[in-house]
Amino acid sequence: MFWIAKANEYVGMEVEVRGWLYNKRSKGKIIFLIIRDGSGFMQGVAVKGEASDNVFVLYDKLGLESSLKVKGIIQKDSRAPSGYELAISDVTPIHLTSDYPIQKKEHGVAFLMEHRHLWLRSKKQRAILRIRDEIERAIIDYFHDNGFIRIDTPILTPTAAEGTTTLFCTDYFDLGKAYLAQTGQLYLEAAIFSHGLVYNFGPTFRAEKSKTRRHLTEFWMIEAEEAFYDLDDNLVLEEDIVCYIVKRVLENCGWELQELERDTTHLMEVKPPFERITYDYAVKLLANKGFAIKWGDDIGGDEETAISNQFDKPVFVTDYPKAIRPFYMKEHPDRPELVRCADLLASEGYGEIIGGSQREDDYDKLIAQIKRCKLPIVPYKWYLDLRKYGSIPHSGWGMGLERVVTWICGIHHIREAIPLPRMMYRLYP
Ligand code: 4AD
Ligand code: MG
Repeated sequence: MFWIAKANEYVGMEVEVRGWLYNKRSKGKIIFLIIRDGSGFMQGVAVKGEASDNVFVLYDKLGLESSLKVKGIIQKDSRAPSGYELAISDVTPIHLTSDYPIQKKEHGVAFLMEHRHLWLRSKKQRAILRIRDEIERAIIDYFHDNGFIRIDTPILTPTAAEGTTTLFCTDYFDLGKAYLAQTGQLYLEAAIFSHGLVYNFGPTFRAEKSKTRRHLTEFWMIEAEEAFYDLDDNLVLEEDIVCYIVKRVLENCGWELQELERDTTHLMEVKPPFERITYDYAVKLLANKGFAIKWGDDIGGDEETAISNQFDKPVFVTDYPKAIRPFYMKEHPDRPELVRCADLLASEGYGEIIGGSQREDDYDKLIAQIKRCKLPIVPYKWYLDLRKYGSIPHSGWGMGLERVVTWICGIHHIREAIPLPRMMYRLYP
């Protein structure tokens, strides 16, 4: 079967391209049809006298996004963006379209989001989702090549892990309430006792009542959990995988980055090591920049942007106050008011892409932390067992796939980094 992406193997041969009409143009005796077949785009040229008359009769009926079969001979053409062109002999419509809602003119975002199912066909959206695919494959390859085992963690869960205010809740038969997973971390922690190094990759849910350009209610998270790693080991791993992902996209998505007009100067600098700054230092830095932040406050989106604009590469912010972090993070050995955690902020102002920490491995301290967070002990009994039977130092982290896609693609809003975004005000289509 012929695909445009494989045109180089068919030069001089007659093929049938099946696809959709992306654009058309007529100069009297010559007709140009741009066809998209999923694998790529190709310009077809029909010349009067050489192509079937049928093509010229059909021309006016061929609305944008009509599906077609186009017969012709593949020719090398250095002027064509793909390097190849189709000398059309005939066109057979599969389904004629006359009133495709998305036209070449500029549409507002609200209109495009309402037509997201069609917007996906545009060149830019296509480029973003192909970069997303490359990132997903890079992540899986990385873990596979570095001794990690994939553990698929449940989506329906009995408890909160990242705070009770962002839980989606559903009735669960006679067992009361179930919650959509905010993270698979706690289950990954159970798996390291069997496999050492593990990861998961799946949908994650946060009932975030925030309308920022960085928040989805359903997003895809990659989480890793590593036996015997301390926080420093954790950061070296995060750094390494982020550099690998960026490298893979730069190597394999040249066309897509160009389509997005992405300036890759900073991406090319994404190499280890990344700077590590403490929360204490970050607060001082922000205060000096005029932000109304005091020690103990969380660092918000605009503040993250301000911090990351100070650095050419992604930057780690470590050791946050215990009071603003989840219960499972390990207490700092010298300063019990802090926990051994780190957020990784992307470069170019894109904000947090990874959150991670060393885990509290002391049974009594973990109980105290669960109580501090006003969580019930009983549902976490299984999790406490992990500190009773062969407890070890261990660490892990979670990366938001759409945050990484947004950064690498250089797009403004996270809603374009996922095929069908779910946000506070969007559940359609
Ligand atoms: O920082 P978070 O909340 O960390 C955790 O869930 C840990 N349990 C991970 C772990 O240690 N295993 O989330 C991790 C990452 C964030 O850095 C961010 O990239 C992304 O998930 N994220 C979101 N992405 C899109 N929309 C949201 N509402 C997000 N919330 C978090
Ligand atoms: Mg976080």
